[in-house]
Amino acid sequence: MKVLVVLLLLALSLRAAPPLPAHPVEGDVMEVMASQFTDLQGAMVGGGVAAIVESAKRLEDVLPRLAEVAPQRNTESSGEFQAYAGRLDSLLAEITSLATQERLDGASQAFAELRNSCVSCHVKFRENNDVIGLFPAVGNTITGKVHTWDVDGVPQESGTALVFLERLGQQETHVNHRDNPALAQESLQFSASILPVVRGATVDFPNDDTVLHNVFSLSRTAPFDLGIYKQGTSRSVHLEETGLVRVYCNLHPEMAASIVVLENPYFSLTDEGGSYVISGIPDGEYTVRAWNDRQGEGSQEIEIAGGELVEVYFEVHDKLRPVQHKNKFGRRYPDKY
Ligand code: HEC
Repeated sequence: MKVLVVLLLLALSLRAAPPLPAHPVEGDVMEVMASQFTDLQGAMVGGGVAAIVESAKRLEDVLPRLAEVAPQRNTESSGEFQAYAGRLDSLLAEITSLATQERLDGASQAFAELRNSCVSCHVKFRENNDVIGLFPAVGNTITGKVHTWDVDGVPQESGTALVFLERLGQQETHVNHRDNPALAQESLQFSASILPVVRGATVDFPNDDTVLHNVFSLSRTAPFDLGIYKQGTSRSVHLEETGLVRVYCNLHPEMAASIVVLENPYFSLTDEGGSYVISGIPDGEYTVRAWNDRQGEGSQEIEIAGGELVEVYFEVHDKLRPVQHKNKFGRRYPDKY
């Protein structure tokens, strides 16, 4: 039995060609992180499945040490910092799972997102970005804030906005090799208020609740009615056209979400403080747009090239109060259920 295990391990290690360089495990957490990241990057280009899984695991092992560089300022930013660390964790799990299924294109897309998460956290939390520039970014980065006022002109402390790029001229084509984005139903709510996806995506609507739901949309972009379906089951909708798809449940008037179908993967939702970061942007001229689900909007033209960091700030005024929508027949919901 032991011999078999040894042989198996030997076979696995032989498969992991080319041999991996030495890895520092001690020392400055971010140096270790950078070195493991570079290994993983090497594995992504032709290292094979075993090498990807192996280096993803080593990078994952460093994550708990991120706490060593966490900002000490206040609890709000520490929650956000944690969220970034968590994001790296789930992306590494996704890379491992996709690589194991030999879905290497999907793994590469998840790796690109991992790279962008490193960059986003640095833009927000590193005191001094001059030291190593935007490492490990490829392409350009846009960052900034969305300041929001409600319909009465009162400045809003929080509320998610979507910031995205529209390319002037040539349209981007993007094929998603990863698992479908999902808008789940949980505790009588959708799992997100705004779900940005790229044109061509299929969105899953799993019912993870304890009750029945009937998800529908009357939008021009993609009208659909998924009918009533129960816990543990899911339905899907393929979204080909760019635009807004407002989604509701015909049984629960308080449930509402907006799917925004975009033409490219360069987008970001703002965090609680209204900040956003979009990284990995190719050189070019773009319209940067900010949007929220109360029809607050803003846009700016930019030109970006040469691995730049450009700051774009928005002042957005809501045009709607959060309104009660009608059911799928265009009628008011009954007062009692
Ligand atoms: C949760 C936030 C966060 C994430 C995610 C993150 N970093 Fe960092 N990183 C920091 C902070 C904060 C610093 C500044 C540390 C300091 O100055 O003490 C830093 C600094 C660095 C440095 C500069 C070296 C140094 O000691 O100042 C490198 C290189 C680096 N990070 C690489 C990476 C790589 C590669 C990734 C992605 C795999 C990554 N980081 C992900 C927060 C993060």
